[in-house]
Amino acid sequence: MSTDWLRDAVIYEIYPQSFADSNGDGIGDLRGVIDHLDHLSWLGVNTIWFNPCFASPFRDAGYDVSDYLQIAPRYGTNDDMVELVDAAAERGIRVLLDLVAGHTSIAHEWFRGELAADGPSPEGDRYVWSLNPPLRDTSGDIPGTAAWVPSPGPRPGWYLKNFFDEQPALNFGWARLEPGEPWRDAVDAPGPMRNRQALRDIMAFWLDHGVAGFRVDMAFSLVKDDPGHGETTRLWRDLRAWLAEAYPDAVLIPEGIEPRGQGTPAFDADFLLVIFEQHASLFDNGGAGQVPFHEPLEPFFQAEGGGSFHPFLDAWEGLTSEAPSRPLILASADHDLNRLAHGPRTAAELRPAFAFLLTWGTVPSIYYGDEIGMRYLPGLPDVEGSICNPAYNRSGCRTPMQWDGTANAGFSTAAASELYLPIDPDPARPTVLAQRDDPGSLLHLVRDLIALRKDEPALGARDGTRVLHADYPLAYLRGDDHLVLINPTTDVRTVELPRLDGARLLLGEGVGVNGGAVTTAACGFGIWRLQP
Ligand code: BGC
Repeated sequence: MSTDWLRDAVIYEIYPQSFADSNGDGIGDLRGVIDHLDHLSWLGVNTIWFNPCFASPFRDAGYDVSDYLQIAPRYGTNDDMVELVDAAAERGIRVLLDLVAGHTSIAHEWFRGELAADGPSPEGDRYVWSLNPPLRDTSGDIPGTAAWVPSPGPRPGWYLKNFFDEQPALNFGWARLEPGEPWRDAVDAPGPMRNRQALRDIMAFWLDHGVAGFRVDMAFSLVKDDPGHGETTRLWRDLRAWLAEAYPDAVLIPEGIEPRGQGTPAFDADFLLVIFEQHASLFDNGGAGQVPFHEPLEPFFQAEGGGSFHPFLDAWEGLTSEAPSRPLILASADHDLNRLAHGPRTAAELRPAFAFLLTWGTVPSIYYGDEIGMRYLPGLPDVEGSICNPAYNRSGCRTPMQWDGTANAGFSTAAASELYLPIDPDPARPTVLAQRDDPGSLLHLVRDLIALRKDEPALGARDGTRVLHADYPLAYLRGDDHLVLINPTTDVRTVELPRLDGARLLLGEGVGVNGGAVTTAACGFGIWRLQP
């Protein structure tokens, strides 16, 4: 047993609120997912990543957990999760859960207990408390997230939050202790040690229920004032070592790129999501908002060209040269900002984007609905913390999955808009039903690309990737014998490429070979095997 399976994963991210609603209350549930496993199996994905589906007041869509060991009643029961995991396994699909490691909800009994106390717990505080409002915030990387909040209960003083005020940071200690700042516990103080043990207990509980591992939310937010994240990495390395013994095939995936330091990596992969610059340099065409982690830039995938492939390529080359066999997961999009179908990007432009996502040497993660080209809907109201600030609106990427043209799979339009986010009101919105009947649809293309990736292992995450033309059109070799050409623009593009004589086109649209030159029509792409 080992974690090597992750290199062959094709991940599908399910935002449970919005995927499939079996009981018509307007909110998705686990039974809805179980009912659609055959569809996921038809599509060909082999790993599901669930956003948090645990008990929660849903101030931050479930990233504010009030009980890690209990499925949120609105999604079902723990037994439903076990049934889902088993039914998925029968179809060769693994299930990953989201581990919100850095904070809980204020409704968690740990927090309620400390809030009701009149001072520190004799066993060590699970949260970070200060009697006086601390003057400086040296606690986190994300401006304004790790800040102090006045106690809303009997416990005097202030507590440290990790994201929204209702998400108090769990106390994993501080890398630097300062005289006069008594809230800075050492990383091995009793409170931090209790929390480390709790992470083990939570992981063991769900692994014993059959899940395959975890995506770790804000993985590097744990130890505070930790320049370079050295102490946080050590903490995860400890947990990783325990996992390797206790659950050898379970994986741990961080949100983002694990900081490179001394010693073995703590996580099994790196994960490029929409908030990261390298991802944005491929796909983010702005508009929905700007997360405060990077400067706005022109994405490589856009109709008029003008972007650069280099920010992504440089990151890829850096990461793979350090650790060639370590997977880098690349999302089509996710629950934290734009979808792939966003702004002026047309349905035709999604086709080369998916051809890239499913033939590059990364492990693909498909955000539910992207495979049919569901659009980001601008201007939707805040639902369950989806608007972080006026310029950062996540509502538009969290709308209900568009199964068919009418109310279906429980997503009655009325119920969904009353209780949750509305379904895209455009009568021409893409749907699974229509696209399954249309062999020329994006859904069929995504399915064909996933199938091709399985049939031609050189297109997966194990073989090398060598770029031949890092501009428009993009051209790269996979392994020794597979060549991929991608034209993200709406212009006709031509490039000279060697070795195409006699090559076999495995899948392509709008490409023509003439001697050593290949021409691609607007949004064309081609995948060739060079040796017949
Ligand atoms: C998640 C967000 C969440 C935040 C706080 C992020 O990494 O992806 O959706 O709001 O962490 O938990």
